Amino acid sequence: MREKIIVALDVDSEARALSLADQLQEYVGAFKVGLQLYHAAGPEIVRKLVRSGAKVFLDLKFHDIPNTVARAAEAMVDLGVFMFNVHASGGGRMLEAAARAAKEKALRLGITPPLLLGVTVLTSLSEAELRTETGVERPLPEQVAALARLSQNSGLDGVVASAREIPWIRSVCGEDFVIVTPGIRPAWAAKNDQQRVVTPREALKLGADYLVIGRPLTAAASPRDAAKRLLA
Ligand code: C5P
Repeated sequence: MREKIIVALDVDSEARALSLADQLQEYVGAFKVGLQLYHAAGPEIVRKLVRSGAKVFLDLKFHDIPNTVARAAEAMVDLGVFMFNVHASGGGRMLEAAARAAKEKALRLGITPPLLLGVTVLTSLSEAELRTETGVERPLPEQVAALARLSQNSGLDGVVASAREIPWIRSVCGEDFVIVTPGIRPAWAAKNDQQRVVTPREALKLGADYLVIGRPLTAAASPRDAAKRLLA
């Protein structure tokens, strides 16, 4: 269970991130560094976490031309991340370039390649916004499933998805495809700004491989006690 928990370190300083990581490391599998922390603390925070023995999911959601994303993917391997992601809507050539670049770079360094995940449709987008603002006519479940399938066919290892999307994704990508799920709230935790939350137990039952959990642990009076409670 412990290995499946990824803590979102959504804080604004290296000191705060390292302190949380230190408190939580023995109870969780990995730490997610997102846009806020990465831009506040730079790649050094990733190096420090990796050096301390932590696994890092670097959540920067690349979306650019294939060559640019491929070079960024190589930089992810140099940093020693365990997992990173790209927008699946960047297209098959971009996804293939990222997957190939990461694998070849890891091979050259003699290390295990990071898991590469696709972001399908941001869960903050409604079906109406998807249609009227981004011009995607097909229903949301079909769009999510199509982008998950494209990710798989392009050599990605999995996707980031909300728990309610898991059945749509499993039906087209099968069991051997990694699904990382945010929007998790233990029954005892505050929902914060998350709308549709599931409990850790529900997410696992739906077939999530990894659970991204932030504030229920990081904003707790004692992150360590919250982690113990979560595991229990
Ligand atoms: O604090 P909380 O548990 O809500 O943090 C969830 C983390 O997962 C945040 O870093 C958030 O950006 C990320 N995330 C999300 N929903 C998505 C994709 C990512 O909450 N659909």
